Amino acid sequence: MIIAIDGPSGAGKSTIAKLLAKEFGIDYIDTGAMYRAVALKVMGAGTDTSDADALGALLDGTDVDFAGGQVLLDSEDVSGQIRTPEVSMEASRVSAIPAVRKKLVALQREMGVRKSVVMDGRDIGSNVFPGAEHKFFITASPEVRAERRRKELAGKGENASFEEVLADIRKRDWDDSHRALNPLVKTDDAVEIGTDTLGIEAVLGAIKKYLQ
Ligand code: DC
Repeated sequence: MIIAIDGPSGAGKSTIAKLLAKEFGIDYIDTGAMYRAVALKVMGAGTDTSDADALGALLDGTDVDFAGGQVLLDSEDVSGQIRTPEVSMEASRVSAIPAVRKKLVALQREMGVRKSVVMDGRDIGSNVFPGAEHKFFITASPEVRAERRRKELAGKGENASFEEVLADIRKRDWDDSHRALNPLVKTDDAVEIGTDTLGIEAVLGAIKKYLQ
């Protein structure tokens, strides 16, 4: 069984996906974390991503995996490091590069054929697993998502203004949905759920109803 959850950043996808995975006792694959891990590696190595050979070499030597709720980049736990605003912007940029998508989509397909998963991202229902049995598209207005993200950052002691966070969200929305390859899109067979006024429990309840 594959449950595909797509939508823009900050809509609540990962919270919902994690709870669903727990409920059904299956694995949760956070594909955004995989793009973030590659972005972190590119930033650390200072790789010129327009140099196909350099990027190819970096990707060939890159392993991204999950274990015990942690995101592993070349076996190192990078779960905390990949959640900064800088990595968010870089992840959005590198995710538009065909070689990066080719590598990560192949990894994601491998993870999904081995076992039942809940996978969240931007192109799971449209590209990674177009034949997935269950597809959900989780949305919320940019303002609501920006306020959630601002609070989350403040909770980690990082104070960003609402306007700054909103501008980042709008830029990522635009870039993620306008890139040439596998852009963020709602497929016709996905169930759309808006989370502006729905709490987590209500969203979870709605999804479980569809799954039954
Ligand atoms: O969900 P997230 O914010 O952690 O994702 C980080 C970036 O990765 C996002 O800006 C777009 C990209 N991404 C993607 O292109 N395809 C996916 N399946 C998941 C994420």
